[in-house]
Amino acid sequence: MEPQDIAPRLLAWHDEHGRKDLPWQREPTPYRVWVSEIMLQQTQVGVVVPYFERFIARFPRLASLAEGEPDEVLALWSGLGYYARARNLHAAARAIVRDHGGRLPEDIGELEALPGIGRSTAGAILSLALGQRHPILDGNVKRVLARAFGVAGWPGRSAVLTRLWGLSEAATPTERVGQYNQALMDLGATLCTRSRPDCPRCPLGDGCAARLMGQPTAFPAPKPARERPARSTWLLVVRSPAGDILLERRPPAGIWGGLWSLPECALDRDPSLWCRERLGAEPLRVEKLAPRRHSFSHFHLDIQPLLIDLGAPADRVADGDAILWYRPGSGTPGGIPAPIERILEEIHEQGATQ
Ligand code: ADE
Repeated sequence: MEPQDIAPRLLAWHDEHGRKDLPWQREPTPYRVWVSEIMLQQTQVGVVVPYFERFIARFPRLASLAEGEPDEVLALWSGLGYYARARNLHAAARAIVRDHGGRLPEDIGELEALPGIGRSTAGAILSLALGQRHPILDGNVKRVLARAFGVAGWPGRSAVLTRLWGLSEAATPTERVGQYNQALMDLGATLCTRSRPDCPRCPLGDGCAARLMGQPTAFPAPKPARERPARSTWLLVVRSPAGDILLERRPPAGIWGGLWSLPECALDRDPSLWCRERLGAEPLRVEKLAPRRHSFSHFHLDIQPLLIDLGAPADRVADGDAILWYRPGSGTPGGIPAPIERILEEIHEQGATQ
């Protein structure tokens, strides 16, 4: 499918299925379309309709909005969320009265310079209200185009965004631009949804690259996971002559807060010394177990477990409530983090086969 193949399909679909009598469509002046586009930025059509009607009843023209008080504008926005939209709308109305004689600029560059109006919103306003030919690229349209043309990569990357703008520009027809842009947004909002696209009913049909690949929801690529730093530590598996393992309760804050875990020893410290100081016991044997990585949302923890067999029972472990001797295979004292449980199981199995 070529970019210019989209418009005829979308327009035919729009003629048959599109909504054409929404309040801002009945009298699509630049001011009314602007207000509706700002409301529709993060909010669905069905939610917007009553807010739009109340807003327009109170502020029927741009001049009335400019004269309104910020509190009243915000009150009419209450419940829609993202209140910066309302503040920007009001600030822009005042700037238009001050700098543009009270008429919404019909030049896309001037329109984009106003608070809260980006390139896509400016294109939508001028195409829907005045039929000017401009491409649009809001979140829904990015998804439709990324799928239709199989655009790889996350749209937050500038190279991907540039490619999508290029496709949107190439796909924009010279006639019926407003209806085309409306159809494009409606397709993204209704059939070409993020997680459950209704491909069988889509007017782009078998021309869609993502659908042909059999994986429409793989496009657009999600934001890449953040690079996580890695931290390394010793975890000490201290075993008494009787075969019990020392567990320590983690402090309430931080990773595994409040759970029972193996004592942690910084990599630059000597684990044997830790035993002597903490337990007053001499390690008989120290064995490195297989290292492993456990990933948290914000970092990776590279764990080097060390099996330390004590030569004699430890004499310094008080019966406090933050430390205990655990008999492998017996019931657990409370919550134990999964990777710690795995280490304990390995030790237990090893002991059983020895
Ligand atoms: N989202 C933003 N603008 C829209 C519009 N005009 N129709 C449907 N969804 C939209």
